[in-house]
Amino acid sequence: MNTVIDKDEVIRQVLEKKKYSHLDKDLVAFIAAEEIKKRASLKEAVKSTANKLHQVGWAYFAQQPDYTTHLHELAALPADLHADMSRQFCLQLMQEHASTRERLSILDEFYTILFSDIRPITSILDLACGFNPLALGWMPVAPDVRYNACDIFDDMNAFLQSFFAHFHIQGKAETCNLLSTIPQEKVQVALLLKTLPCLEQAEKESSRRILTDIRARTLIVSFPVHSIGGREKGMRQHYASQFEALLAELGWNYQKFLFASELAYRIEREL
Ligand SMILES: C[S@@+](CC[C@H](N)C(=O)[O-])C[C@H]1O[C@@H](n2cnc3c(N)ncnc32)[C@H](O)[C@@H]1O
Repeated sequence: MNTVIDKDEVIRQVLEKKKYSHLDKDLVAFIAAEEIKKRASLKEAVKSTANKLHQVGWAYFAQQPDYTTHLHELAALPADLHADMSRQFCLQLMQEHASTRERLSILDEFYTILFSDIRPITSILDLACGFNPLALGWMPVAPDVRYNACDIFDDMNAFLQSFFAHFHIQGKAETCNLLSTIPQEKVQVALLLKTLPCLEQAEKESSRRILTDIRARTLIVSFPVHSIGGREKGMRQHYASQFEALLAELGWNYQKFLFASELAYRIEREL
């Protein structure tokens, strides 16, 4: 290991950049620790840590969301999540994150199909949620569903918390680093949508540990079938064969669902 580069200084310099100032501190430290092993100078370590953080978080946004404006727009909406204006607002925001944007064309069928047979759904844990909590109005869930979500941006989570409050949803949005801690509440359904490849980018072979730490009776895990740039590149077959091999190793039963823009697995487990 490189003992010359001061990890705390790498973390300080990365967090000082406006773009990274809202990121989970634990994740910044985690990635900085990996990067200093491979770099020759402080400058290089800061640059590569920032690049990696960009890849795992910022790459999904074309531009930084304007949360101040979105909070004003939210305040002007009725408290009914299913009202036309509320749905339009959610659709517009889901366009801003690449992951929810590419799910919009399949949104109705996605949750109708994946949540069938497990209704009524009373608790959901949305891990590495991005803007997916804004899809709650499209999910067939119990009216008093508990919706806990987490992601690495604290400004995103503050916004999602206001979203829950406005629509009187029993929700909690917290900042997390799934590479070090999985929220431990027991839930009926956990969502880990299109995120395992992103976590594996930061830490290879982390999927098994993360999956086994989740405390949910039903686990829905999905994978992208195109890159952010839209190329197919055999991604579906690649993720399917890797993930199915892991499921076989774990001895977990699953059902597989192929949507136009996403490959999903629904796994039932004993808690
Ligand atoms: C491909 S997006 C998926 C977003 C959402 N699950 C969806 O499908 O709409 C990956 C998400 O993982 C988040 N993320 C990346 N690394 C993470 C980590 N270590 N812990 C928690 N979330 C992470 C990113 O910020 C991003 O929102």
